[in-house]
Amino acid sequence: MRPFPTVRSEPHPELHALIGHGLDIFRKPSLALEPVWQQGFRATLPYWENRVNKRCHCIDDLRQTMQARVSLQVADYFLGGAGQEITLKNNVEAFNRVAFNARFARRFDSVDMEVTILGQKISMPVIAAPVGSLRTLFPVGEAVAASVIGKAGTICTLSTLTGTRLEDVKEAANGPCWFQLYLVGGREVAVKAILRAKEAGYSALVLTIDTPVAGHRMRDHYNGTPTLLHGTLLQKLPYAPQTLWHFNWLMGFYGDGGLMDFPNIQLKDGKPMVYADIGKQLENSAVTWADVEWIREAWGYGPLIIKGVQTIEDAKLAMEYGAAAIVISNHGGRQLDRSPSTLKMLAEIGPYVDRKQTRVLMDGGVRSGADVLIARALGADAVLIGRAYAYGLGAGGGVGVSRALELIRADISHHMRLLGYQSINEVGRECIHSLH
Ligand code: GLV
Repeated sequence: MRPFPTVRSEPHPELHALIGHGLDIFRKPSLALEPVWQQGFRATLPYWENRVNKRCHCIDDLRQTMQARVSLQVADYFLGGAGQEITLKNNVEAFNRVAFNARFARRFDSVDMEVTILGQKISMPVIAAPVGSLRTLFPVGEAVAASVIGKAGTICTLSTLTGTRLEDVKEAANGPCWFQLYLVGGREVAVKAILRAKEAGYSALVLTIDTPVAGHRMRDHYNGTPTLLHGTLLQKLPYAPQTLWHFNWLMGFYGDGGLMDFPNIQLKDGKPMVYADIGKQLENSAVTWADVEWIREAWGYGPLIIKGVQTIEDAKLAMEYGAAAIVISNHGGRQLDRSPSTLKMLAEIGPYVDRKQTRVLMDGGVRSGADVLIARALGADAVLIGRAYAYGLGAGGGVGVSRALELIRADISHHMRLLGYQSINEVGRECIHSLH
């Protein structure tokens, strides 16, 4: 059996074998005739999994391990933000400026952090955000992540810009999934993706409104990413030696078929969009409020979530357009630099949302369970995490994603005990001391 699915735009019969075995197949003894990169990948993966489990005790440790494992260009795509990365830093720092108010001398044996979001009970108020290009981090990355996220009892949101078919990811997740939509390729192409997501059983559609153009991400330019995507073999050659230091990633990347395309964006000729086209396509993918009408019509039956709300005005518009939830988000600082931190926006926008009609979610800067509790205290029903689990995937595949989720879960539990709250529903504004 081929351990890696290499055909990108067709269903992968092998993928189910991979996921079905909890991806243990990666650890099976190699066959003599297997391509050398697959053997190399399998032989060196245990080192990274071991490092994840033994040496990663917070999300920042996973970040460092991902940076050691994957190539500079790939690591920086996930680490970086737009412009001067002011918003990227502010998102994190806003959480660090909050102090807790603890109530001591309370005793309970277990904590309850389950919440229900849009009719779906999840094991903690943490949902996996849509993250593009996960397949560049790890073979069949989206499916690997979805499988672990489903096992952790929460919702996986799949980005339009991912390298694995949405049907395969849904099957791998074995749990609730949301589909995030970009209008890349235009209306007809988007409707095709919406109908596929509906058919595959995605339970909510997440429409991102903050991407009229791709953010100006300078790390990509400093790292030569455009040359690596568009250049000739000769132009790419100087970048080759540094990838040798990232042996496990390199073997996995080529074993998985090299640079992914986008099978969830089926262009008019029926072919998937190729990776190199992304900048150009994003230029033409701006969404307007008028588009929400036909998107809702195509989606029809399920909840629509508007992601990228940054003002009270847009929150009100989202409610007018019937959003079942909004995600207060600045795209993790990857789009408009100098947009305020999402925690600040949450405090400002939250009180204007009619909670009977619309749930309030937020993302950006969440790196710990303590951060999750702060967001809950300021009125978020749940948070979305993106980098936190992507770092895990880059650090050690499914083992890394699992580690990221369990670190956050353990930290929520630990802080609830320290703070004296038995149920997540008791965490309110009085639980935090100051926002200075
Ligand atoms: C895509 O959504 C990205 O932020 O790169």
